Amino acid sequence: MLDLKGVARYFGGVRAVDGLELTVGDGEIVALIGPNGSGKSTTVNLIAGVFPLSAGAIYFRGEDIGGLPTHRRLQAGIARTFQNIRLFGQLTVWQNLWVAQNALEDRARRGFFARWLGGRARAREEIFQLLEFSALAHKQDELAANLAFGEQRRLELARALASKPKLLLLDEPAAGMNSEEIGQLRERILSLRQRGVTILLIEHVMELVMGVADRIAVLNFGQKIAEGAPAEIQADAAVRRAYLGGEA
Ligand SMILES: Nc1ncnc2c1ncn2[C@@H]1O[C@H](COP(=O)(O)OP(=O)(O)OP(=O)(O)O)[C@@H](O)[C@H]1O
Ligand SMILES: [Mg+2]
Repeated sequence: MLDLKGVARYFGGVRAVDGLELTVGDGEIVALIGPNGSGKSTTVNLIAGVFPLSAGAIYFRGEDIGGLPTHRRLQAGIARTFQNIRLFGQLTVWQNLWVAQNALEDRARRGFFARWLGGRARAREEIFQLLEFSALAHKQDELAANLAFGEQRRLELARALASKPKLLLLDEPAAGMNSEEIGQLRERILSLRQRGVTILLIEHVMELVMGVADRIAVLNFGQKIAEGAPAEIQADAAVRRAYLGGEA
């Protein structure tokens, strides 16, 4: 599904991501973890096309997407959520999803009126299902800015799903959530996988990572220092050193 080959991004002298090799298979949930500033969000931004690669290549379903702009990657099936929530605060919950659903170029090209007449019922039904999935149906007419924090996180995920991605990039989706919300997020992530969505999960909340990841890759100073099944990573001495910053 996704293949990073020697991916690098430098900011001046900072090697934010430095020669990263990472593969995410079809239907897999791979977690990317690492200390603050280790390059996790930069990796997501490189996959989503927010800024260009300094070196390396990114393949998505066999195609080299490293030079494509963000909207073409979205169109190809890559959607993401942000570490810091970004919603249209002055639009309602429903409108946020409608905009995301229509952000795809091919749909826009089909023409507003064609969509309005032909696709409207189906589009509404898809939004309704996303609202149900995200436990937001009762908030559909609320402005996004007025939602509680946990609800905004759920809306962000729903918005990413509105483009029907094949690959979902989640950048710290559990940040700021309480334990009950983390449990619900875990169920949602597992249910997405069952529906065939492949997921790259960036997360500090180990309770979530260990509960959903098939495989974990660990970054430190932009480089991958370990990769393996959750139990292997928990037992890995280099990972402990990276997190604890000393003897482990
Ligand atoms: N746009 C940018 N301009 C300059 N430096 C950047 C930029 N984005 C990231 N960096 C630097 O790149 C390094 C990696 O940052 P990144 O945000 O990818 O880390 P992270 O692993 O996501 O950390 P966190 O867990 O805190 O979210 C850091 O040193 C950061 O300061
Ligand atoms: Mg980050």
